[in-house]
Amino acid sequence: MPEPSAESRLDILLLGGHLATMAQDGPAGREPYGAIRDGAIGIAGRRIAWIGPARDLPDRLRRTAGAVFDLEGRWATPGLIDCHTHLVFAGERIGDFEARLSGRSYAEIAQAGGGILSTVRATRATDEEGLMDLAVPRLSRLMMQGVTTIEIKSGYGLDRETELRQLRVARAIGHVYPVTVRATYLAAHAVPPEHKGRPDSYIDQVIAEILPEVKQLELADAVDGYLEPFTFNAAQLRRLYAAAQAVGLPVKLHADQLGDGDGAALAAETGCISADHLEYASAAGVRALAASGTVAVLLPGAYHMLRQDRPPPVPALRDAGVAMAVATDCNPGTSPCSDPLLAMNMACLRFGLTPEEALAGMTRNAARALGLHDERGTLAVGKAADVAVWDVTRPAELCYWMGSALTAGVMREGQWSLPLKRKRPA
Ligand code: NIG
Ligand code: FE
Repeated sequence: MPEPSAESRLDILLLGGHLATMAQDGPAGREPYGAIRDGAIGIAGRRIAWIGPARDLPDRLRRTAGAVFDLEGRWATPGLIDCHTHLVFAGERIGDFEARLSGRSYAEIAQAGGGILSTVRATRATDEEGLMDLAVPRLSRLMMQGVTTIEIKSGYGLDRETELRQLRVARAIGHVYPVTVRATYLAAHAVPPEHKGRPDSYIDQVIAEILPEVKQLELADAVDGYLEPFTFNAAQLRRLYAAAQAVGLPVKLHADQLGDGDGAALAAETGCISADHLEYASAAGVRALAASGTVAVLLPGAYHMLRQDRPPPVPALRDAGVAMAVATDCNPGTSPCSDPLLAMNMACLRFGLTPEEALAGMTRNAARALGLHDERGTLAVGKAADVAVWDVTRPAELCYWMGSALTAGVMREGQWSLPLKRKRPA
């Protein structure tokens, strides 16, 4: 690794542990997990300035480092990136859960005005402070489990005021907590009651009124939609996405979750940075995603919660070279989950990912799904010093326990957001 210039010194040095860098290039990139055993990470300011085997660390850097932390034989990974959440919402959907247990389907409940629209009613009735109070416990569970970057979607307002409110809360979370937030305007999540039966008139309003304001206030980093027979069709989403892209916002799509609606192909055709869910994606859809470089975001929490029995076409995605991300999809309806490790566990057991793919899904490929891959997602020189330290004996253990607290410390941009625990008293 290149040594930082002669006058520079490290602010922080992490020593005494093993690194799952998740990098694909350099010497570590040839190892599973991009692993460096007995590694060292040197941090200057907010970034990683040196990384490699500890034995290669120049003596001068070791002697002049501002603070040295001993990882005591643990493993460090990139800070986890939860690239698909609906973290900001009010109310709960326990009634939907019970209804599904007694045989009603998600689509039936949605069409009867429950589902997403019941969360819309609760969210519209809750002010900014209330939404923040409800989101923070979910956020803190994610952060305690190693998350340093989170995407947060709106989509439970479906009117100007509430969508802007949800997005303001998402932005505020990134300002007041040590976590990087990407806010996504989920414009086309469901047809709001004011436009019942008239999805086109709602999309018109989004394009003419809400999207320009979201853009002008810089409240979103991307725009999202939901393609299902009971939500929006391809033509409506194409209109929305053209408007979003015209103002420089990248687009994403909830696709092929409950049936094959040619969603993967639509995501590819419209240049989506990610296509999410994909249980029913066709072989042609997978090829299209590979050609467009769209990331497949897999959401096993929703699959589990809806008791689905057809997993996304993981072998085809893998063979085609589509980057696969994994996320919690934290939301009240289909995935009341704020545990990234449980999502990784389910990605392995229910979708057939390897533990290494699951970890890549919550780090490197999740960064790509958010357009953050130049900055985050691997442990590498120049990237943000977002590091999670784990009490595990090998990286696959992260996928093994079903919902356990395995973090020993979490660092975000060169500062501990969860102070490193000591195994042995100093
Ligand atoms: O990602 N599929 C659409 N959106 C969410 C569910 C939202 C809800 O049911 O409230 C999802 O699964
Ligand atoms: Fe979602």
